[in-house]
Amino acid sequence: MSMIYRPRRLRATGGIRRMVRENILTPANLVYPLFIVPGTNVKKEIPSMVGVYHLSPDKAVEAARETYAAGIPAVLVFGLPEYKDECGSSAWDMNSPVQLAIAAIKKAVPELVVISDVCLCEYTSHGHCGLIHGHTVDNDSTLPLLAKTALSHAKAGADMVAPSDMMDGRIAAIRSLLDESGCSDVSIMSYAAKYASAYYGPFREAADSAPQFGDRLAYQMDPANAREALKEVALDIEEGADIVMVKPALAYLDIVRQVKDEFLLPVAAYNVSGEYAMVKAAAAQGLIEEPRMVMETLTSMKRAGADIIITYHALDAVKWL
Ligand code: PBG
Ligand code: ZN
Repeated sequence: MSMIYRPRRLRATGGIRRMVRENILTPANLVYPLFIVPGTNVKKEIPSMVGVYHLSPDKAVEAARETYAAGIPAVLVFGLPEYKDECGSSAWDMNSPVQLAIAAIKKAVPELVVISDVCLCEYTSHGHCGLIHGHTVDNDSTLPLLAKTALSHAKAGADMVAPSDMMDGRIAAIRSLLDESGCSDVSIMSYAAKYASAYYGPFREAADSAPQFGDRLAYQMDPANAREALKEVALDIEEGADIVMVKPALAYLDIVRQVKDEFLLPVAAYNVSGEYAMVKAAAAQGLIEEPRMVMETLTSMKRAGADIIITYHALDAVKWL
């Protein structure tokens, strides 16, 4: 049988497949998240996320060294505080675990990029990402608190802050406080298109950040919407974001692609806790090959347009590259 086109010719050997491969994941594409808790010498596995740990600042330094040694350029730090209150004041306390960890990591591994998640839900007694007024999360009175929190991370030494609250106008509020406080070199990775997602389930145990009443539907995005994501991204860019993120990743790769095509900033995709936990659960039951599935997933994110992939699989993925 004679055929002009036989695509299989270019799949015939490993060498040829390597020559024509369009997307190759590298350690430089990855960001590894860390969960910082109070105390010293704490390294405790998070029950909802096998292989992910609660780390005290000293142990976070060890994880940071390991991350840097693996060739991964950045960590994303989340904090669990000593105390919570209505307005989340431990979020900007320079003695809170995450501020201590940022300083310790930058001292021990100065070349590692430290990105800090900026939100209030880990720090408020009610678990919402902003101040409660009546039955709603109040947008404008939350902005100065987010900015203060971002500044405390910058003062501790963070290279980049990553607001994940989804309040309107937070990028402008954070940018202007950083600039007027001598931190104009600190960049902002905005959780620009962050959806109200069931895929955050395991994280809420990891960060102790579950809302005590209601849900986040009035501030995070509706999973049904795509055009709105482009609007969110455009606004964050206008306000001064340096990198824009789409979150979650796997169920939103169409959004990653559209953001990549529409804008010129680097695009990050967050391979969230529920995506991680599904793979781990299936692997534990022997249903899937974990290394292959993880590499396929992360490579697909890159193919969709992600320049940066935030993933709990990062250390494993580097081993499997
Ligand atoms: C806090 C925050 C969340 C995640 C990152 N920052 C949870 C949420 O919005 O409820 C989710 C990360 C993950 O699931 O891995 N606002
Ligand atoms: Zn939050």
